[in-house]
Formats: sequence, C-alpha cells, structure tokens
Amino acid sequence: MNILDELVDIVKDCEKSAEVLLSKLIKRQASELVVTRGLYSDKYANNLLYHGDNLEAILDLLAKGYGSRLDLIYIDPPFFTMSNYNKRVELKSFGEKKVIEYKAYSDVFRGGLKEYLEMLTTRIFLMRELLSERGSIYVHVDYRTVHYIKVIMDYIFGIDNFLNEVIWAYKSGGTSNRYYARKHDNILVYSTSKNYIFNPQKEKSYNRGFKPYRFKGVTEYKDDIGWYTLVNLKDVWSIDMVGRTSKERVGYETQKPETLLERIILTSSNENSIVADFFAGSGTTLAVAEKHNRKWIGSDIENCSLLTIRKRLGAINSRPYRIISCNKWNRFGNINVKSTTYEKIEDGMYRIRINLESYYLDLDQLNITKKNTEIISDILRNDSLSLIDYISIIIEDNTSEVIYENYRENNISKINTEFDFIIDNLDEHIRLNIIDIFGNVTSKEIKFK
Ligand SMILES: C[S@@+](CC[C@H](N)C(=O)[O-])C[C@H]1O[C@@H](n2cnc3c(N)ncnc32)[C@H](O)[C@@H]1O
Repeated sequence: MNILDELVDIVKDCEKSAEVLLSKLIKRQASELVVTRGLYSDKYANNLLYHGDNLEAILDLLAKGYGSRLDLIYIDPPFFTMSNYNKRVELKSFGEKKVIEYKAYSDVFRGGLKEYLEMLTTRIFLMRELLSERGSIYVHVDYRTVHYIKVIMDYIFGIDNFLNEVIWAYKSGGTSNRYYARKHDNILVYSTSKNYIFNPQKEKSYNRGFKPYRFKGVTEYKDDIGWYTLVNLKDVWSIDMVGRTSKERVGYETQKPETLLERIILTSSNENSIVADFFAGSGTTLAVAEKHNRKWIGSDIENCSLLTIRKRLGAINSRPYRIISCNKWNRFGNINVKSTTYEKIEDGMYRIRINLESYYLDLDQLNITKKNTEIISDILRNDSLSLIDYISIIIEDNTSEVIYENYRENNISKINTEFDFIIDNLDEHIRLNIIDIFGNVTSKEIKFK
C-alpha cells in the first residue's frame, strides 16, 4: 500500500476508535482509577498529575467533565527516532561519585511509522474534545514526522484552524557531510475556532547597522549589541537547548527549555486557563504553568518522569496537586524504619522523629545494565539509603495533607533520613512515602500505639 492510502486508513481507523472510546465514556467508573494513596495528593487541588498512559488520562478527564474546558494543550511526544532516552543520576556513596544512566523512556515503534501515527492520531482526536472554544494545541515534533502529522491535524482541526508552524532553531552537536545539519524542531499550532486566545509576545528586532532610526512614534531601545525596536514574535524561534551546564537541567535527556514553554503559555493561555501536557517528561510545561499561575494537568507513563516532575515542582514550591495513578504499579522496593518516636511539645502538639534504617530494592525486577546492577548492588549492601531520592509524609485523612517533603539533589550524597515534623493528633494515620532514584515508590504506614 502506498503511504497516502495508508495515511487515509490511519486517520479513518483512529477516528472510529476515538468515537468508540467516547461512546463508552459514560460507563467508565471513577473507581477504575486508583488515586494513589500517600503520594503528594490533595483531593481539593486543581492541578492533576496522571501517572500512566495518556489515553487513560484523557478518557478519565473526559469522564470527569473536563470536555471543552482546556485552553491550551502542548505535547512533545516521542519523535519516532527509534532510540531509547536516558535519565542521568549522580550519586555519592562514601564520598565516591557514581553516575547511573538508565532508560527514561523508549521511542522505538516496532510497527513502524503506522504504529507511531496511530498512537498519536487517536490521542489527538480525543484531545480535541478537551479543548475549549478559545483553545489551541501545539504539537512539537521534527522532520521525521511533521509532514504526516500536518495532514492529520488539518483533518482533525480543519485547515482553516491552522495557525503556525513554529520553527525552534538551536545549536547542538552533530553534523553531516551528506545533508544540511538538522538543527530545528517543528511545532504545529492549531486552534479550535476563530475565537482562540492569543496574547502577542514581543521580541527584539535590531536596526540596520544597530544605529537608531529615530522614526516618529517608534520607541527604540539600546543594549550591548545596539539599537532595536520590539516587534511581534515571529515564527522562527532561536532558543538554546538545555545544555550541560544550564541551571534548568534536571537530567532528563529530551528536556525542553523553559523559555520555549513560556512563549507558548503566555501567548495561548490566560491566568485562569487550564494548560495540559500529556507527554510531560521532566515537567517543563507544568513548571512553567505553575510559575505563571495557570492551572495545569500533566501525564506521563514512566516512573522516572513522575519522580523528576515531583522533585521539580517541589523545588519551585508548587501549589498542592493531585496524583492519579492509572495502573496498579509494582512495588519493587522496601524501607526499614529504625525508630519512630514522639514527644509532647505542648497541649495537642507532638514532635515526631523518624529514623530510617535501610532500603531494599529487588534488582531482578529492574531493567538495568549489568554495570548499573553491580554499582547498585554494592550501594545496597553498604549505603542503601543513598538510593532514596524523595521522601514525603502525609496525613491520611480526607485532605491528604503533605506535612513533610524532602528530595535529593544531584551531588548530594544522601537525603536526610533522620527527620522530624509536628502533628496534633497521635491517632492520625501517617504515611511515609519513599521514591528511589529509579522512580520506584514504597509506602508505609507509621504507627505509634
Ligand atoms: C520527548 S519526552 C517529553 C519531554 C518534555 N517536553 C520535557 O520538557 O521534559 C516524551 C515523554 O512522553 C512520555 N510518553 C510516551 N508515551 C506516552 C504515553 N502513551 N502516555 C504518557 N506518556 C507517554 C515518555 O515517557 C516521555 O517522558
């Protein structure tokens, strides 16, 4: 079959699948999803982080009444590179630096382009249902698939609702003598109607010769380079990638720069808008939405992405958000608590002290290299607590309030595994959550009586 016939079949089949899924929505039970107990969760929080396949996340949102309520969706899916992407973790055990790299996510589609486009097309049909009448969607891909996706998007959103193909141009290593160096990504932008949100952003436009023009009524500015005016942002954006030494870097290979997301979010959403990213990765969209006071929804299928996002949001002291787990996840780790003590500090106030003893991880269950297995086995024997990347304590009542949260930064040998916090009722159900460097979650109830 030729590629054009195949494309038509993909779009028609995916449209049908999306219709079937939508027709079954009414039967979806909220209980199909487990609200993960003891994670950073707040039942009343506006912002949602789904852990699981975004197909489940989108269907859950539609079942919960989010249809036509989102003003902006940005997605940065796998690009069909047929490679795996890594997460880099730096550990320090007994003063010795160890670097672990493990698979963060896979961009390998054994069924080829057809499988890739089917995965994306069904989801984009369903995402359209979530967008408001003022909404827009940004699909971030590259030269490998952009031309197929453009045709698919024209069908889903209507060619009249195509706004832009933004080119994100960057410098990066690697070049070729056989073709021009490929140094840009493509971001397709569509709206749902003519009434879409668009707050034009400005960029510098340097005057010819960097000299002042002194035109009447035109404001001119000067910086180290020379004189410039401010003009509406064009559709080619030169923004540096998140480099090795960048402060933004969180060790997630395909992390996008915050400046890129800032432009998108400021242009296509307002302060009370809901902004979503269904391939959230390291959480760039969520962090930028948080910083700019937008409500946000994110999802990612990988443990390591969820861990990265939680640490990133913790670092900017985000508002509470709710984690919704679409699957029952395997528990490969276990934590031993050395001691739990309490002391009454004043009427109705108790200081709780927790001291962790050791961490156990079932390495046979992890898909890591032989070299990593040796490093981790050694750490497990001698310094197991240095594998802990995140700790939180929550009170398990109907607010699931987080009363303690701490996470490890790269370079720091060990998270504080002896810590205290204050509660006002010893009968409270207290839950300790531990996430290791691979994103495995372990959870334990803390009891006093
Ligand atoms: C290119 S990365 C996104 C990077 C992100 N924009 C950032 O700045 O960090 C793609 C992400 O999509 C996730 N992903 C792939 N398929 C998914 C699916 N079906 N549901 C949810 N997440 C998925 C991967 O785990 C990966 O984290």
